[in-house]
Amino acid sequence: MSPSSTPSSPAKPTKRVNPTKPAIPANPAKPTKGGTGIAGGGALWHGRFSAPPAQELMEFTESLTFDRALALEDIRGSRVHAAGLGRVGLLSPEDVEAIHEALDVVQTEMAQGTFAFHGSDEDVHTAVERRVTQLAGEAGARLHTGRSRNDQVATDVRLYAKRHLIELAHRVHKLRETLLAKAVDSGQVYLPGYTHMQRAQPVLLAHHLMAHGWALGRDQHRLLDCLRRMDVSPLGAGALAGTSLPIDPDWVAAELGFARRFDNSLDAVSDRDYVAEALFIISLLGVHLSRMGEEIVLWATEEFGFVKLPDAYSTGSSMMPQKKNPDIAELSRGKAGRLIGNLTGFLATLKSLPLAYNRDLQEDKEPLFDSIVQIKRALSAMTGMYANLQFDAQRMQAAADQPFVAATDLAEYLVTKGMPFREAHAVVGELVRSALDRRLDFAELVENHPALGPTAVKLLGEGVAVSRRTSPGGGGPGPVASQIVSYAEQLEADRKRLPVV
Ligand code: ARG
Repeated sequence: MSPSSTPSSPAKPTKRVNPTKPAIPANPAKPTKGGTGIAGGGALWHGRFSAPPAQELMEFTESLTFDRALALEDIRGSRVHAAGLGRVGLLSPEDVEAIHEALDVVQTEMAQGTFAFHGSDEDVHTAVERRVTQLAGEAGARLHTGRSRNDQVATDVRLYAKRHLIELAHRVHKLRETLLAKAVDSGQVYLPGYTHMQRAQPVLLAHHLMAHGWALGRDQHRLLDCLRRMDVSPLGAGALAGTSLPIDPDWVAAELGFARRFDNSLDAVSDRDYVAEALFIISLLGVHLSRMGEEIVLWATEEFGFVKLPDAYSTGSSMMPQKKNPDIAELSRGKAGRLIGNLTGFLATLKSLPLAYNRDLQEDKEPLFDSIVQIKRALSAMTGMYANLQFDAQRMQAAADQPFVAATDLAEYLVTKGMPFREAHAVVGELVRSALDRRLDFAELVENHPALGPTAVKLLGEGVAVSRRTSPGGGGPGPVASQIVSYAEQLEADRKRLPVV
């Protein structure tokens, strides 16, 4: 330890907080030599430099064009930071008040869209601090005491991610409710279940819809898990190593609504795991929506005809008057690519970054903001579309009553008569082949088969095969009824666990 690292106390303020020697000029009209000062629109680091930032540097490195989305979080973080400095005596109560009043003005200006950004505002943090310093004078110039933009931006992005992931969890929940309602509405309607996109075995439509519901339930749980892990305040980590000033990061963490503060300042300013995690969760959610979307695209074709698209959730063609297009479903499918791109792009940014903060980390924002905006819109649009879909029970059931769909049931019938399953599989397989090759009626072949006969042929009757999917978690009426009960229970439990927005 160097001798200069003795801890300071609120009673003995360091040079940096000495009221007679402000580090940043309080009066915007009187810039210090070598820089214009933040309140006058200069760079935050003006003291060390003899030339102002080049235009190209600003154009390339600025983040204001996108990080102004963090304005609310930045104001909140600054408010709590100032209060924290006041609590430990690093700011006088008057200074804290002046800063808070200035932040109120900034917040109003931001909300009303009247905040005047300057060409020299590199990012939202600079803009807010500049304006606070303009409004609060010397008090504003003390705001950044014991703080770096590195812990500041890390705090802002966490607060932003927390707020939006909570909102996302609510939207996922809504779509789950819609799916459950549609499943309940669909009653005993059944359709063919598919493997390899070939008709396989019949299942209840409710079963099919709930399959998406369970996947979305996992997405919702993943969002909550991620929220729990990211609930750590980085504020107080400083640029990378903490500070010599007697700040209280535990207090600011609690005030900002975080579960706790960071343990390691290097990690605190360089950790973007939660951004990568959020991007993954959103990507997977997007993948789930893309599968649901693809299904609606297929089902809405004349070839399938399983579903009628609601007019308000479909689009027309500029040229072909007869067209009704499933654009929501298609874009849910298409946007997944972009969400995955945001994830993989950001992982590539993180890869090999040395500790601690590097400017590369500024690249966390655009993918995060974009993925959040896109997935929210997709969730709302899909929820609206799903709520208004009309399923064509007749078309679905006719497709499911095609006799080969009951082939497994015939094999299982033979199993109940004592035949080993492999043998039974071959017997029925041969009948299917004969029916296809020799263009014979499958039901007749079944009826005339010595091991099958008239009892077995009843399995080919309308809706019979689906009623025989009786095993737990299976696609027939019995298990689906209990599945709906347990899904509704989980949905209710998950609703109670949703954090307030
Ligand atoms: N705009 C920057 C970002 O998003 C803020 C942090 C800047 N820190 C720095 N040391 N230059 O990461």
